[in-house]
Amino acid sequence: MTTIVVAMDQENGIGFQNSLLWHLPADLKRFKAITSGHPVIMGRKTYESIGKPLPNRTNIVISRRKDWFQEGILIVGSIKEALKFAKKIDEDIFIIGGGNIYEQTLELTDKLEVTRVNTTCPADTFFPRIDMKIWRKSGEESVASDEKNQFDMTFETFERIIPLNAEQG
Ligand SMILES: NC(=O)c1ccc[n+]([C@@H]2O[C@H](COP(=O)([O-])OP(=O)(O)OC[C@H]3O[C@@H](n4cnc5c(N)ncnc54)[C@H](OP(=O)(O)O)[C@@H]3O)[C@@H](O)[C@H]2O)c1
Repeated sequence: MTTIVVAMDQENGIGFQNSLLWHLPADLKRFKAITSGHPVIMGRKTYESIGKPLPNRTNIVISRRKDWFQEGILIVGSIKEALKFAKKIDEDIFIIGGGNIYEQTLELTDKLEVTRVNTTCPADTFFPRIDMKIWRKSGEESVASDEKNQFDMTFETFERIIPLNAEQG
């Protein structure tokens, strides 16, 4: 199962100037719970914005650069390669951004774990539109803002209406 994990605002905004749009510990906690113990795939820019490998997960970072090396991560040159390596490690793999990588992998993904943040922020990076002819919402849980989490949010799960591997049986 290949799952995209993303937090987006009401206009699908996900980032600005290579940073997240908010600091939401409740979302980070959920992200950690969902992805820990599994390979995570991300673009080079997202890796640089995080700044270090995420612990307890094989970090697979996609870049076209030939001269880029960072300790503690697996660097690959294409999405295909990232998926190939991740699937060798585990059945359940997670694609964690950013916008560029989401655009190229949405059509290769079985499931979306979306945190819909109840706000609209200035953003320069967006998640693609979720086409409800392709996806159906299979779960929803609302979380109210509190002293640590500035905005209300809804954890939404989407699954493909027609599974990716349906044709292969
Ligand atoms: N809200 C969220 O859930 C969330 C999650 C993740 C990230 N973000 C935000 O998203 C923003 C970053 O997203 P982004 O779209 O700018 O960048 P990105 O998707 O993280 O990374 C793009 C980079 O990935 C590499 N790449 C992309 N496609 C490739 C391919 N087919 N083959 C080889 N390499 C490929 C290239 O690296 P090289 O240039 O090295 O070749 C490209 O510059 C930040 O603001 C971040 O905070 C938000």
